[in-house]
Amino acid sequence: MKLLTSAAIGLVISIASTSVIAQDAKSLKQAKRATELRQSIFSLLGSNMGPLGGMAKGRIPLDAKQIEKYALRINQLSLMIADYTGTNTSGHKVETQALDKVWQQPEQFSKRISDLTKASANLKKVALTGDEAVIKKAIGGIGRTCGGCHDDFKKD
Ligand code: HEC
Repeated sequence: MKLLTSAAIGLVISIASTSVIAQDAKSLKQAKRATELRQSIFSLLGSNMGPLGGMAKGRIPLDAKQIEKYALRINQLSLMIADYTGTNTSGHKVETQALDKVWQQPEQFSKRISDLTKASANLKKVALTGDEAVIKKAIGGIGRTCGGCHDDFKKD
């Protein structure tokens, strides 16, 4: 019985540490501001992913130093997603592509975040190896984590 209780407590702690407990936006003004900040993070993710996608497709020459820089930025941005999605704006009329599920399924959402954190850490690790195939695969790995989350949590 005692063992069971401490296991249960352990579970609660591990969930709490990986997902931010969302707070409801208290006014339309606050919801708009939170939406703006949230979209800024994703917009920056898009701007750093663009050149990586171009390199993976051969439209831009591979540049190891640049790849490492974008991978690091994406990794750092991924660590901000939880905080910048921590205000639940679903009760307000804001222009957003975020589905309400972002706040209804916090565990699944934070799993998607950590997939991106891992994939970007992996690209950073292989960026300077000079192995083109491995680098392109790692870029593709990041792209899949973007798309995976969008499939579940973003309007088309
Ligand atoms: C954990 C889930 C998740 C991950 C991972 C994720 N996104 Fe998104 N993304 C969203 C959601 C939700 C929105 C909608 C935000 C809104 O409109 O409020 C969004 C919106 C966007 C937008 C539109 C931003 C705007 O200005 O409105 C871009 C661009 C984008 N994501 C690119 C990316 C790229 C590139 C990656 C991977 C490097 C990525 N996202 C990873 C969930 C995610």
